[in-house]
Amino acid sequence: MDSSPFPSSLPMATLLLFSLALLLFPDATRAQQTRHYKFNIQMANVTRLCSTKSILTVNGQFPGPKIVAREGDRVVVNVTNHAQYNVTIHWHGVRQLRSGWADGPAYVTQCPIQTGQSYIYNFTIIGQRGTLFWHAHISWLRATLYGPIIILPKLGLPYPFTKPYKELPVIFGEWWKADTEAIISQALQTGAGPNVSDAYTINGLPGPLYTSCSTKDTFKLKVKPGKTYLLRLINAAVNDELFFSIANHSVTVVDVDAVYVKPFDAATILISPGQTSNVLLRTKRSYPMAMFFMTARPYSNGAVGTYDNSTVAGILEYENPKSFSSAAFNKNLSLYKPSLPVFNDTSFAASFSGKLRSLATAQFPAKVPQTVDRRFFFTVGLGMSPCPANQTCQGPNGSKFAASVNNISFATPTTMALLQAHYFGKTKGVYTTDFPVYPLMPFNYTGTPPNNTLVSNGTKVVALPFNTSVELVLQDTSILGAESHPLHLHGYNFFVVGQGSGNYDPTKDPAKFNLVDPVERNTVGVPAGGWVAIRFLADNPGVWFMHCHIEAHLSWGLKMAWVVQDGSLPTQKLPPPPSDLPKC
Ligand code: C2O
Repeated sequence: MDSSPFPSSLPMATLLLFSLALLLFPDATRAQQTRHYKFNIQMANVTRLCSTKSILTVNGQFPGPKIVAREGDRVVVNVTNHAQYNVTIHWHGVRQLRSGWADGPAYVTQCPIQTGQSYIYNFTIIGQRGTLFWHAHISWLRATLYGPIIILPKLGLPYPFTKPYKELPVIFGEWWKADTEAIISQALQTGAGPNVSDAYTINGLPGPLYTSCSTKDTFKLKVKPGKTYLLRLINAAVNDELFFSIANHSVTVVDVDAVYVKPFDAATILISPGQTSNVLLRTKRSYPMAMFFMTARPYSNGAVGTYDNSTVAGILEYENPKSFSSAAFNKNLSLYKPSLPVFNDTSFAASFSGKLRSLATAQFPAKVPQTVDRRFFFTVGLGMSPCPANQTCQGPNGSKFAASVNNISFATPTTMALLQAHYFGKTKGVYTTDFPVYPLMPFNYTGTPPNNTLVSNGTKVVALPFNTSVELVLQDTSILGAESHPLHLHGYNFFVVGQGSGNYDPTKDPAKFNLVDPVERNTVGVPAGGWVAIRFLADNPGVWFMHCHIEAHLSWGLKMAWVVQDGSLPTQKLPPPPSDLPKC
């Protein structure tokens, strides 16, 4: 594939036409464009599963509006908060090179936008192409406040796969009839697990497998035979990893987390909260006289009842090429349903993630760090906090649920964002840099849990000099049950160089690492009762949150932050904060 704008083989006439186009439409061919968006955060009434509630939205839309940009474009989003909640927006997966002030996690890179205030998020998309998403990053507001980010390749650059006939986002979400802010605040109060959702949704719609009045709220994908469709899958669910399948069709995975991968076919996709994936759907060559369910339901290692085990369905409908009337979609066709793996199919999860490989071509190389400056070993998992005196708690053994990284349950600051403390050198009383690089009390992580499973609380970070090459092993624990944890790192993509079940073995496992074409992404599932090893180069100065993207675990403290120091060159420094950065 030739990426130069003037291939030598181009006929002269085409070249002349191209030059003429340049004169007439200079904008269309400019390298970088600025894309402006206005996000009004406002309440809107939405009815699902026969009940109406007032939800937080952007511009009254649910799911929220699409952000569309080309690789290399600047995106400017003016967010004004008209609602009674404090809000921040995170551009999940956008690398935010030297634009950490626009990243969005509350009290990590900014104080929240208060009622009546505005903040302009300003960032450039560099070296990414595919699908990401934006979501609220405070409390559980992302339950309804989310939308797609579509990153097209640079102008004139084709996809490294069949050009799709059409593209569309397919966003998985999770719906509660009750107010999700009440649910999480009550859970944190009592120490119990939060109430599970009432439905999953595709593009905001629960589909026909719930109550009869949800049937009209069904996502329909209307297709023509013999075409290729690009589905931009986004898991915006709050607490659940999902299996997804389309009856009688398989898809080709071509991109995850806005990075191209070596294409592979799959009948079922596993997608964790925080993950995105572009897949190609090739429709049947001729009109099939049938309709096909596309369904998603959770992958979970918990006991049924501790998660929502319902199924969302959308419908793949073929347009009848012989019918020219508006009744092209015949409702009396037979309907096929896909079969999904059982809810706790860990071996499916392992084999699916094992198929993901970077494209690793000359044009799209996998820049895997080949040497390591610093190694870290973090346990991730659940734990408990003691029940406060004169209160009864509903967590494990009358305690409160907690979660931690290396047994530190992260305490979020409230008076200042970590990034402000770092930039202005006012870290005293906000955070300390003594986050443990290894568990302080090692144990058999995936064996019988230790007697004491209490977490400790703290606002601790790891500080890294600019350009440190990092290897991090994330080890799940079996405390209160081994569970898979989709770990998300802000500000970076990382390479998943190894993964396995049981305890990580530092003498044997590194020999099996893939340093050639490991998948590059921003969110990786730490296998239930297993481990994953990632590498990244700390070349983006700022404060970068890392956390489990299961919101319940995030609320319980499964989070920490990396402080990446400035480099010596002017291009290696974090610029000062924008003047409209919200105050706490
Ligand atoms: Cu999509 Cu910090 O998260």
